[in-house]
Amino acid sequence: MATATETRKDLRTPIVCVMGHVDHGKTSLLDRIRGTAVVDKEAGAITQHIGATEVPLQTIQTLCKGMLGGNIVVPGLLFIDTPGHHAFTNLRSRGGALADLAVLVVDINEGFQPQTIEAIKILKQFKTPFVIAANKIDRLHGWTPKTNSPFLQSFNSQPDHVKTMMENKTYELVGRMSDLGFSSDRYDRIRDFTRNIGIIPISARTGEGIPDLLMILIGLAQRFLEESLKFQVTGPGVGTILEVKEERGLGYTIDTIIYDGEIRVGDTVVIGGREKPYATKVRALLKPKPNREIRVEERFDRVNKVSAAAGVKILAPELEKAMAGSQVRVTKEGNIEAMIKEIEQEMEQAKIVTDEVGVMVKADTLGSLEAIVNELREAKIPIGRADVGDISKRDIINAETVNDQMYRVMLGFNVAVLPDANDYLQTTDIKIFNSDVIYHLIDDFRKWETDQRALAEKKKFAEIIRPGKVKYLPNCTFRQSKPAVIGLQIMGGMLKPGVTLIKPDGSKIGVVKQIQERNENISIATVGKEVAVSVDGPTAGRQINEGEVYFVDVPEGHSKVLEYQLKDTIKQDELETLMEFLAIKRKDNPFWGR
Ligand code: GTP
Ligand code: MG
Repeated sequence: MATATETRKDLRTPIVCVMGHVDHGKTSLLDRIRGTAVVDKEAGAITQHIGATEVPLQTIQTLCKGMLGGNIVVPGLLFIDTPGHHAFTNLRSRGGALADLAVLVVDINEGFQPQTIEAIKILKQFKTPFVIAANKIDRLHGWTPKTNSPFLQSFNSQPDHVKTMMENKTYELVGRMSDLGFSSDRYDRIRDFTRNIGIIPISARTGEGIPDLLMILIGLAQRFLEESLKFQVTGPGVGTILEVKEERGLGYTIDTIIYDGEIRVGDTVVIGGREKPYATKVRALLKPKPNREIRVEERFDRVNKVSAAAGVKILAPELEKAMAGSQVRVTKEGNIEAMIKEIEQEMEQAKIVTDEVGVMVKADTLGSLEAIVNELREAKIPIGRADVGDISKRDIINAETVNDQMYRVMLGFNVAVLPDANDYLQTTDIKIFNSDVIYHLIDDFRKWETDQRALAEKKKFAEIIRPGKVKYLPNCTFRQSKPAVIGLQIMGGMLKPGVTLIKPDGSKIGVVKQIQERNENISIATVGKEVAVSVDGPTAGRQINEGEVYFVDVPEGHSKVLEYQLKDTIKQDELETLMEFLAIKRKDNPFWGR
């Protein structure tokens, strides 16, 4: 009788992406798995591909030390190491995530960091099942390592105060996860892994907890097998470009994960380009030698064929035009145009922006663009334009066409500001935010937006004609006319030069020219002050008489702003004056200023 693994040789290996903040131990974790696998090499246990480590079931079974149950059909796991967030935004496939599963590595001593959160947001967006590897438990103070042992074995042998510390650190992670809308717990307390995220304490250095991690991953892979069954190990290959790189002696190459079908030397492929999709022919397929990492690898094995799921470096003409995050698809000669159209549509979708007015976004790759557009949507920040590439002078000129001050802004993710753009920036008010952490961009924009609004409010407030109530003081007629100069007391609100005065019956008196206090010109007289005021228009003793009360004539538009927008910010005496003034205006016209 054939064993389970043999019967399902056609099954595509699930792709497991390893993500996390810089230095939290992603590569070390894979090294640990690889390292152990090297010991197993004689059994032909491990195959290592570009940026990806394929770990066959047999190796996992050995590493798990009998913790795995029976009836396992997944052929193994393909781990993808991500050299920082900037690559994991590219881990997309057609219509979803490239990874079937993910391991989020968190340094248990440092807890969540910016890129941890960013990774979680991307996993959430793609609904990728994942576990948390709480790494570096060997560095917990007082921890006595038990090399390669399952977590609980090691945990149970620790003194009580170390156990308590371990528990506290775990609950910190649970708390942070809860803030992000996830229910989580230490894996051994979880029954339903579809509803709860498992936290597996590990040490990439001592190997503790690694059997547990692999066991949980295999369990999840089995559960989500249906998903990966959509993909085949044969048929026309489909892959995602992780990175476009120039290699010495090879020219431009693309590091690709083939997640469906197979790709051969000589195949025609359509590739998502920076400008538009285009066709080219595969000249060579390169895999790093076993147990070598892509980033340090310089010598490769040339192979004729690669089947999903696998990492491979592709050599072909015109790869300098390729765009990270987009697709590589094997196609037949006659089908090229249709395929180009299809990929073009997919790429456009990633850039689709429906908002009429909004910020402008530039990102380094299609994947990161998609990620940031998604985050902005969630934050309800409108997007006017979104595109891939560095910030150029043309981009800034484009941004200048936006009239709304609030959106004369460019958000750059992982991009450079080109020199001509930098020069041009000196001449414009366009604001640029540039960062390699998405949510820093959003925070920065939010802060700026708040400041901007406060500033606009202040400006609006400064330009508004404010209400004022004044009394013409007895025995204070200093000049009768042209202009009349009279003594006024400010009873409420304020008085500024340039305003028109009216009587309580609504009739106009004239315009205030100058205000003097102790023979000095002043620009504002506030409540309680007694000042000498020159008024153009009336003659004292005729149109105006001592003892009368006048109001500042606030224009209708200004009074609306005061009554409906600034009401909470103005002082009591001014508010009362405004109400009295409105009553005068509304005596004849109840709808005035409404
Ligand atoms: P980037 O690729 O730069 O994002 O980092 P990474 O997440 O791959 O981290 P890496 O594996 O390079 O580890 C960073 C540092 O942490 C290295 O010095 C490792 O030796 C150390 N380290 C990783 N895992 C452990 C662990 O379990 N225990 C201890 N003590 N140190 C660890
Ligand atoms: Mg690394």
